[in-house]
Amino acid sequence: MTLSSLKEKPLKLGLAGLGTVGTGVYETLQRNHDILEARAKIPFEVKKVAVRDLDKVREVDVPVECLTNDWHELVEDPEIDIVIELIGGTTAAYDLVVAALNARKPVVTGNKALLAECGFEIFQLSAQLGVPIYFEASAGGGIPIIASLANSLICNHIKSIVGIINGTSNYILSEMEEHGTTFEKALEQAQQLGYAEADPTLDVNGWDAGHKALILAMLAYGTTISPAKIFVSGIERLSPCDFQFAEDLGYTIKLLVVIRSHENGDLELRVQPSLVPREHIIASVSGVFNAIAVTGDIVGETLFYGRGAGKNPTSSAVISDVITAMRDTLFPQHHTGFKLYSSDCRVMDIDDTVTPYYVRVKVADRHGVIAGIAAIFARHSIGISAVSSSFSHKDDEGNVWNDLVFMLHGCPWGQLQNSLAGVILLPNVDPAPSVLRIEPLLSQVR
Ligand code: NAP
Ligand code: HSE
Repeated sequence: MTLSSLKEKPLKLGLAGLGTVGTGVYETLQRNHDILEARAKIPFEVKKVAVRDLDKVREVDVPVECLTNDWHELVEDPEIDIVIELIGGTTAAYDLVVAALNARKPVVTGNKALLAECGFEIFQLSAQLGVPIYFEASAGGGIPIIASLANSLICNHIKSIVGIINGTSNYILSEMEEHGTTFEKALEQAQQLGYAEADPTLDVNGWDAGHKALILAMLAYGTTISPAKIFVSGIERLSPCDFQFAEDLGYTIKLLVVIRSHENGDLELRVQPSLVPREHIIASVSGVFNAIAVTGDIVGETLFYGRGAGKNPTSSAVISDVITAMRDTLFPQHHTGFKLYSSDCRVMDIDDTVTPYYVRVKVADRHGVIAGIAAIFARHSIGISAVSSSFSHKDDEGNVWNDLVFMLHGCPWGQLQNSLAGVILLPNVDPAPSVLRIEPLLSQVR
C-alpha cells in the first residue's frame, strides 16, 4: 500500500461499539475529518460499525448498510485495515481483539479491564504476529498519559506515578463533598453523563482505577503484572462524616492510585481512598477530572491533568491511536505499538507499605473508651498525632454514639491491621472502622 494508491482506495476502519465512546469516535471522525486528513495526510473512511442491537435509536447517523450486529464481519472483511474495539468487557471483546490480531489487523482499544486481565496474552500475540495494539484511551480519558509514558518519558526510570485516574469516583467524591449529594444520586449522575463503566461497581470499588494502574505500571516497568498483586479498595464505605472530619483537619478525600518504585527495586502498587492536604494541587482536582503525577529520574516531577472520562475526551484519545495505527499501517516494519521488554517486577506485600493513617471508629459514649483504643495502638507501637470527636448522636434504640478519629503516625499497613483487630474486639466499639491513608505527596503547594 502506498500514499498515492490511498487516493483511490482510502484506509478502511471497522468500529465495534456505538455506545458512549463509539458514538463520540464516529461523530468526531465525521466532524473533524478534514483536519484529520490534512494533518495525517492519509485518506480514510469508516467502513463498518458493529453493535449489539440493530434496532436501537442512535445519536449518530450511520448508513444502514454500514451497521452489523456481528463483529466477525469487521475481522473477516479483507478491506478493513484497522479494528477499533469499543464494546467493553472481557468476553466478546477478548474474542474480537484476538481475532483481529490473528487476521493481521491492528487494533485500537480503550478497554482497560481487558488489558489488565489478559494483557500478557494479548501483547505476546501482538509481538508474535507483529501486529500492533494501541490503547491510549485505557487510562486517563483524554489525557495523553500512555503516549507520554511510552514515548515522551522514554529515557526515565519511573520513580512514581501517583494520582486520580477514575473520573466517576472523583465525580462522586466531589459531589458528596461540595454539594452534599448522596452517594447513590452522584453515581446515577455519573452514569447519565457517560462517565461510568457498564458495570459501575468497578468504578466505586476501585477496580477500574486498579486496571488502569496495572496498565500504567506495565508501561513504566515493561512487564504485565497480575491483578492479584495490586491492593484495591474503593470509596463505597465512606460516610458524610469522613468528609466533615477531613475538612476540619485540613484535608480532602481522593481515591488515589500509588505506583512507587523503592530503592531496593520493590514496587508499591495500590488504590485506596486517601486524605490529601487541601493546599496540595491534587486536592483541587474535582468532578470528572483526573490528575496523574509522574516522577522520573531525569525529568523530575510532571503532572498530567484533564477530563478522565466521557464521550469527547475519550474519543480524542481513541482517534489519536487511530491516526498512529494508520501511519503504522503504511510503514508496518517500524510500527510503534507497545512491546513488553521486561519479565520481572517485585510487587510489595500491602502489609509492608507505610504511610500515616486516619482511623475513624464509632464508639458508645462510655468512660474509658478512648483510653482503651489508645492503649491498643501503644501496644502495637503506633503513635497518635491527634484525636478528634464528633458531637454525640443517638441510634434508633436510644444508644448514644460518638465518632472518634485517630490520626496515626506512619507504620506498616499490616501493623495497623493487627492493632485494629484488637480495637474492634473492645466493648462499646463498632466493628467497622473507616481507614484512610494520608499519602506522602511530592510538591505540596498549589
Ligand atoms: P457502552 O456505552 O456500554 O457501549 C458499548 C457498545 O458496545 C454499545 O454500542 C453496544 O451495542 C456495543 N456492544 C456490546 N457488546 C457487543 C457485541 N458483542 N457485539 C457488538 N457490539 C457490542 O460503553 P462505553 O462507555 O462506550 O465504553 C466502551 C469501552 O471504552 C469500554 O471498554 C470502557 O471501559 C472504555 N472506556 C470508556 C470510557 C467512558 O468514559 N465511557 C472512557 C475510557 C474508556 P448496543 O449499543 O447495541 O447495546
Ligand atoms: N469509568 C471510567 C472512569 C471511564 O470513570 O474513569 C474512563 O476510563
